[in-house]
Amino acid sequence: MNEPRMYHDLAHFWTLVSPPEDYAEEAAIWLDALRSKLGPGRHHVLELGVGGGNNLSHLTEEFDATAVDLSDAMLENSRKLNPGVDHHVGDMRTVRLGRKFDAVLIHDAIAYMLSEDDLRQVFSTARAHLEPGGVVVISPDWYRETFPGTKIHSWTNNRGDIEFSCTEYAHDPDPEDTTFETVFIYFIKESGVLRVEQDRHTVGLFPKDTWSHLLIESGFDVELGPYPVAEDGREMHLFVGVLRE
Ligand SMILES: C[S@@+](CC[C@H](N)C(=O)[O-])C[C@H]1O[C@@H](n2cnc3c(N)ncnc32)[C@H](O)[C@@H]1O
Repeated sequence: MNEPRMYHDLAHFWTLVSPPEDYAEEAAIWLDALRSKLGPGRHHVLELGVGGGNNLSHLTEEFDATAVDLSDAMLENSRKLNPGVDHHVGDMRTVRLGRKFDAVLIHDAIAYMLSEDDLRQVFSTARAHLEPGGVVVISPDWYRETFPGTKIHSWTNNRGDIEFSCTEYAHDPDPEDTTFETVFIYFIKESGVLRVEQDRHTVGLFPKDTWSHLLIESGFDVELGPYPVAEDGREMHLFVGVLRE
């Protein structure tokens, strides 16, 4: 499978694809979920698949953080935005940092887990970095039940002399498997000169119950918190797991 260009040769456009300030509302929900489980204090969180660190940037005032991502180009964005965070290149399925944290966070990067086996591996990674009572928080974008089959969405952002427009087309070539495909067309106008780029991402799609079931199987007690952040109003939840003794 080709690497998503958004996280490699086009990663320097990340804050135009997705500006950090757009994450304030959802990060407030993550903060509430973390505080309700961890209580007060400056806890240390580990984010797997931190990307540009946009969501994390709204949490670092309250928590110490360590971050992992497969893409060093994306970590470069997060290093700029979150200079106090310790960043590591690694795969969320296999990385082992050799230390424990109070919570493990996996935001929308969890979408890149394509099979139940991938999810089991990530939940093992979370377990390996937590003591009993430690917390994992995950926010899947879609469930098999909420995915409409085909979805198209466009937006534009500007920075300096760059106008960046994106059309995102999601479709499900095989409704029998646990993945769908998202195709991005980027219209990048720099100093008035337009270029058009294409990018294709394969992402995971699981029934809602699969998330709870695999987290429980991996040793976590699970609660589903409200997560009303989707522009189209679809059902979304924060899955909050607490590692059993
Ligand atoms: C949409 S971006 C995350 C954006 C992030 N939530 C933010 O707030 O900036 C998805 C990230 O997942 C990362 N990723 C995909 N597969 C991964 C894996 N197996 N292990 C670690 N990171 C992964 C990609 O490199 C990419 O940076």
